[in-house]
Amino acid sequence: MKHSIVVMIATITLGLLGSWLCLADETKIVWENSDAARLVQSRCITCHSLDYIQMNAGVIKGANWEAEVNKMRKAYGAPINDEEAKQIVAYLSQKFGGE
Ligand code: HEC
Repeated sequence: MKHSIVVMIATITLGLLGSWLCLADETKIVWENSDAARLVQSRCITCHSLDYIQMNAGVIKGANWEAEVNKMRKAYGAPINDEEAKQIVAYLSQKFGGE
């Protein structure tokens, strides 16, 4: 009897730990199946991890994504043309923009 209680508690603990790990995993970026999402992934991954986008999303908001993408292009030479930049900025502002 005592033994089964121990097993039960262990099972519950592992279950909670498991769901916590799943939650943690959900903070990873989920990319939609869209042209803009694919564009961001293909253009922004060439120099650094896509995590950079999410890591800085709390600081970079709304219109600032335009400045950020311009910085990647002008300061770091990201190979992104005007049309692509427009789509990327719109996508990032909507996804990570906040207000
Ligand atoms: C030509 C290379 C290059 C490309 C392409 C590029 N970046 Fe960057 N990015 C950089 C460099 C260099 C840094 C600064 C790295 C560091 O500080 O470690 C950076 C840093 C960042 C940061 C962190 C904040 C900052 O300003 O330092 C963000 C956010 C970011 N990039 C977003 C993007 C996005 C969004 C794209 C796609 C539109 C992109 N980058 C494409 C080179 C690039």
